[in-house]
Amino acid sequence: ETLTMEVEQIMKGNYDHFMKKEIHEQPDAMTQTMRGRVVFEPDGKTVQRVFIGGMVDYLSTIRRSRRIILCGCGTSYHSAIAIRSLMEELTELPVTLELASDVLDRQCPFFRDDSIIFISQSGETADTLRALEYAKSKGALCIGIVNVVGSAISRATDCGIHINAGAEIGVASTKAYTCQITAMVLLTLALSEDSRSLHDRRMEIMRGLADLPDNMRRALELDQQMLSLAKTLVNENSLLLFGRGFNYATALEGALKVKEVALLHSEGILAGEMKHGPLALVDDTLPLVVIATRDSSYVKQKSVIEQLRARDARCILIVGENDDSLDQYACGKDMIIRVPEVADCLQPLINIVPLQLLSYHLTVLRGHNVDQPRNLAKSVTVE
Ligand code: AGP
Repeated sequence: ETLTMEVEQIMKGNYDHFMKKEIHEQPDAMTQTMRGRVVFEPDGKTVQRVFIGGMVDYLSTIRRSRRIILCGCGTSYHSAIAIRSLMEELTELPVTLELASDVLDRQCPFFRDDSIIFISQSGETADTLRALEYAKSKGALCIGIVNVVGSAISRATDCGIHINAGAEIGVASTKAYTCQITAMVLLTLALSEDSRSLHDRRMEIMRGLADLPDNMRRALELDQQMLSLAKTLVNENSLLLFGRGFNYATALEGALKVKEVALLHSEGILAGEMKHGPLALVDDTLPLVVIATRDSSYVKQKSVIEQLRARDARCILIVGENDDSLDQYACGKDMIIRVPEVADCLQPLINIVPLQLLSYHLTVLRGHNVDQPRNLAKSVTVE
């Protein structure tokens, strides 16, 4: 017992909890995901191309498939939501999403010419593994996005990418999420490398990838502000998060972190759905987080904020660091969270950071177990 505790303390290094350590490891973890796969020009800065060894023989099959299906559970499913739009844009294929448990419940129609990507940190999640076995029985090409090398899902897939995020011990998935998205950005770039019309867009994303770890480091500097914000929210009963487009996933993933570790009810909502129900909950007491970094849905998101403010909502805003045009809508100094601005499709990787930090601080302040929330297990090996 004492020995296990000492080993744990050594593994945690200077951090009180694995979750905190793993949140702060993200810039390095992401660098590991890209290592050897992002090929730089001789200047060492400009990205020349993306090369994924384990995928070269399969890229043309994926390009020729009728559709791509992304499949996983929990946070791994959220990374699927985060990459969907970019994958559709760059591959020009329909990309659909499946929760692993639902694949089995519905006996999903999967076909030989489907490419199905199974996303899992542990590589041992029972629902995902069963969905993979089912997909194999239908003859689909099965690709893995997995962290744990040698895990069941990594062995059973036809090909794939190890995200190389390093061991993730905290039950709340943090660095695996950002590394899964990063790995799938790389896959998407590899799938679209022959496209001339997408050249500029791909270059923009590749440049963004090169700067991503540094931008992530700057996002981590929001730690103290998130602690102050957590102090103002510690006794709340509910927290809603609104996102859309590339950041719908951020809202869902932020909410999952808050409910799973801080044991505080939280819901991620697609902002476009606000008027179709959730708006009824809004009053001057319920705290709301609205993600409003600049991308093609910025104007719509601004109008959502105006509608929320018209009902005196307590808005906490996540905005680009160079954007002060929304300041007037935030309720107080700590309520405006300024994040580094990156390419639109990479922005979810940055925007999740303050929400991970917020859920961490809320958990500590509320006195709950950070690394092992009640009733949960790190890998869910039963259906
Ligand atoms: C995330 O914080 C959760 N603990 C959980 O949703 C997790 O992401 C899910 O169980 C999937 O696990 P996997 O990535 O190991 O397959």
